Amino acid sequence: MSKDEGSVLNAAAKPDEETFDRALRPKSLDEFIGQDKLKENLKVFLKAARQRREPLDHCLFYSPPGLGKTTLANILAREMGVNLRMSSGPILERVGDLAALLTDLNDGDVFFIDEIHRLNPLVEEALYPVMEDYTFFISTGKGPAASTLKLSIPRFTLIGATTRAGLLAGPLRDRFGIIGQLGFYEPAELSAIVRRSAGILNIAADADGCAEIARRCRGTPRIANRLLRRVRDFAEVKGEGRIAGDIARYALDCLEVDAEGLDAVDRRLLSAVIDKFEGGPVGLENLAIAVAEELDTLTDVIEPFLIQTGFMTRTPRGRVATAKAYAHLGRKPPRRDLELL
Ligand SMILES: Nc1ncnc2c1ncn2[C@@H]1O[C@H](COP(=O)(O)OP(=O)(O)OP(=O)(O)O)[C@@H](O)[C@H]1O
Ligand SMILES: [Mg+2]
Repeated sequence: MSKDEGSVLNAAAKPDEETFDRALRPKSLDEFIGQDKLKENLKVFLKAARQRREPLDHCLFYSPPGLGKTTLANILAREMGVNLRMSSGPILERVGDLAALLTDLNDGDVFFIDEIHRLNPLVEEALYPVMEDYTFFISTGKGPAASTLKLSIPRFTLIGATTRAGLLAGPLRDRFGIIGQLGFYEPAELSAIVRRSAGILNIAADADGCAEIARRCRGTPRIANRLLRRVRDFAEVKGEGRIAGDIARYALDCLEVDAEGLDAVDRRLLSAVIDKFEGGPVGLENLAIAVAEELDTLTDVIEPFLIQTGFMTRTPRGRVATAKAYAHLGRKPPRRDLELL
């Protein structure tokens, strides 16, 4: 199997995808579908902050990719009626870069740091006093001539996003007043998302067609939107233009997304666990080599979904394929009980 198989789903968003992402991004909490508990809490925090005429408390959002972290940051800024400034961990290389961005903020603005787990430790440390009381300390000079400059920063809201909450240092995490985890979406929520996106893109889609995409998009709105556009291609070329259930099933089969929503890479990974590592346990590093995928992709994208859907489990000694994985791939599970006799 070639490495590119399944890339329709797993490839990082390309520039044209970003244009679509932006067009389809909900603009208010009411338009934001799902994540009900988090949404209801955020509504309370927004209202309270507005009533007190204070900026919203710093927020940290974490989830696998494509579940709505950046979308929520945009929505919160909009609901507070303030500007959003975007940056990211890897881009904010130097403390000076951070100072320049922060001093340029207006009172109440939202400053968004994507991939916040990848901040340079010096930049992260500079952020601590800023998050606490909007004070920035800059060291100037070296040796005996060294001194520290104290800068006042406008009161702002920091919103951090990460796919790896576990990599965040405790002191950084503790400085966020609001921490929200986004989970995979339910099929009914994804159906609603696909219907909404189809409406915006002027695509004719039946309830059955939307539901089929919703069932097979790894619980992820970004993938649902991507599949919607690919299924539309099939509907226009091989069907009557309208996304009905049968053409959606045909298209998704052609894209190698199976009835359980697994793509070629998922299946390759599960097959590797079973065939090359006797069902596991196997470490993720070894698996990454066996299937020639980036370790980050395995950690952020593939593993969370396979665990969530019960195809794989994580044990202290590594990843293990479940009976469901054996059944799905048409393999006979090993008689582990007999091995013990
Ligand atoms: N709750 C939602 N309702 C409707 N559409 C959504 C929702 N969440 C996400 N989307 C759609 O999915 C796309 C991807 O979401 P977003 O960019 O916010 O994900 P993310 O969590 O920031 O991903 P990454 O970790 O890759 O940065 C959005 O452009 C939007 O179109
Ligand atoms: Mg994002």
